Amino acid sequence: MDTPDWVENEELVAWVASMARLCTPKAIHWCDGSDEEYAALCEELVEAGTFIRLNEQKRPRSFLARSDPGDVARIEERTFICSRSEEDAGPTNNWMDPREMAATLKGLFQGCMEGRTMYVVPFSMGPLGSPIAQIGVQVTDSPYAVVSMKIMTRMGRPALDVLGADGEFIPCVHSVGAPLAPGQEDVPWPCNDEKYIVHFPETREIWSYGSGYGGNALLGKKCLALRIASVMARDEGWLAEHMLILGVTDPEGEKTYVAAAFPSACGKTNFAMLVPPPAFTDAGWKVTTVGDDIAWIKPGEDGRLYAINPEAGYFGVAPGTSYETNPNAMESFRSDTIFTNVALTDDGDVWWEGMTKEKPAHLIDWQGNDWTPESGTKAAHPNSRFTSPATLNPALDESWDDPQGVLVRAFVFGGRRAGTIPLVVQSFNWAYGVYMAATMGSETTAAAAGAQGVVRRDPFAMLPFAGYHMGDYINHWLGFGRKLRNPPRIFQVNWFRRDEEGNFLWPGFGENMRVLQWMVARSRGRALGLESPIGWMPRYEDIDWTGLDFSEEEFFQCMAINRRDWSDELLDVEALFMKLYNRLPKEMEGVRSLTTSALWRSPTHWEMNADPT
Ligand code: OXD
Ligand code: MN
Repeated sequence: MDTPDWVENEELVAWVASMARLCTPKAIHWCDGSDEEYAALCEELVEAGTFIRLNEQKRPRSFLARSDPGDVARIEERTFICSRSEEDAGPTNNWMDPREMAATLKGLFQGCMEGRTMYVVPFSMGPLGSPIAQIGVQVTDSPYAVVSMKIMTRMGRPALDVLGADGEFIPCVHSVGAPLAPGQEDVPWPCNDEKYIVHFPETREIWSYGSGYGGNALLGKKCLALRIASVMARDEGWLAEHMLILGVTDPEGEKTYVAAAFPSACGKTNFAMLVPPPAFTDAGWKVTTVGDDIAWIKPGEDGRLYAINPEAGYFGVAPGTSYETNPNAMESFRSDTIFTNVALTDDGDVWWEGMTKEKPAHLIDWQGNDWTPESGTKAAHPNSRFTSPATLNPALDESWDDPQGVLVRAFVFGGRRAGTIPLVVQSFNWAYGVYMAATMGSETTAAAAGAQGVVRRDPFAMLPFAGYHMGDYINHWLGFGRKLRNPPRIFQVNWFRRDEEGNFLWPGFGENMRVLQWMVARSRGRALGLESPIGWMPRYEDIDWTGLDFSEEEFFQCMAINRRDWSDELLDVEALFMKLYNRLPKEMEGVRSLTTSALWRSPTHWEMNADPT
């Protein structure tokens, strides 16, 4: 196909031509991003056996894809940051010399699209024309990636119009690594056992090979909006964060925006779409969603912070999502959605563990096998996903597409921790807050391949996503805060604390509104709290308990600071600090020392079941 006349950018045309010479596809398709193009590609995916069209009455214009069983999650051990110096990638990233990697990639990509179409996918990360947004262009041989990019980004001609004749774009090269010989039959989910997800931070390039799945293949998301954007943000003085953005409207109509970082599969989408408990809703409280995964944040001329969601859709974890846990998500994927690796019901709809209390009597599981409740296996893969447009979310914030972004007044950091970390703490100041975020730990989840449930340090929930040395990353945050006028307040939360029998101590979900309300009030200088050794904490009476039967004793259990657990915690933090030592700002060791002595010198009344007053 010739280059369409609406493509004006010579540099882009030349780059696409060079990619075509390297990958030797049988055809080139420039994506205009139209609904007709999307529908036609989905139809082709149905014909190829990649998509199963769902029941049109129950799930209009929606599809199920089953991936190769070896291609179900992000692969951190195959993800590389190829900066010129190994030191710049830091000890938490995989590194390879960029020249060596370029040579490896050249070998892999040579002829890799043989027999396939190369799609050219221009996209904007962020509202079209926003001063905070960026334009990327992905070439890919995966039509699944194309239709997913149509949901997840502002894709096609409108993005090229913003790029114009001489704008700059971030080049993203993707191949499933499965060339087709003449006459060779395709498989429903082509991919390659050899996988590479590669970032060149200095030249701002992304090369992904061998996987068709999510964060490995939709290169606007983790690769561009986090790994490459974090480097740009460091260089240009802004923040690219693994954060949801939500708005809280109080009964007087005052709105406060909050950005919150949680590691993958720790309920970010649920928090972003939180439905307050009836007592709050009746009183006029409302929560609205700007984004559920990524925030780009820039200082405005007023010295305050403005955030956009670079994405246009949700790539959410399906299992556990139900009308009880997240009704807004359930509404967002009632139609026009791509499901991946969930189970198929006998009437052509989708199901996953936790969607309904009662399990269906029969399903086809995520691998295409018959399934019954007696099968003893999961019907949906634990990292199965829905890809749905933001515009279908009933709680979508009215400013979600505002090119200027929304004013952020609070940052929240939350890991998944069975013990140690209290329900909520506010940092004493910016440096303490950076320390809290830098030392965050979380149990690993199915979002990435590998062991699950192991506590690992996940600074800023960015461990798999920072495009440079984590010590420099922490330093960037410290310096960034110093330049702000009235910086956002910083909080740490833990919705996942458990008792000795393993039961969750906090009901979570909509009830998180109570904690959110306290954080919002604190960020506006309104609510009370008490100074604890690790930060400001609400007393029982500082939280609004209307409509929830939650005793003071239960609250203390969620809030307890146990010295023995904290000793272990601080030792573990030391291990992280040793790893980052040569680039770690000295403030971090300072806060750690202050916290250690505060914990040991303060009275024990912060321990469980004691009276904190
Ligand atoms: C995601 C992730 O998909 O963090 O958002 O893995
Ligand atoms: Mn994420």
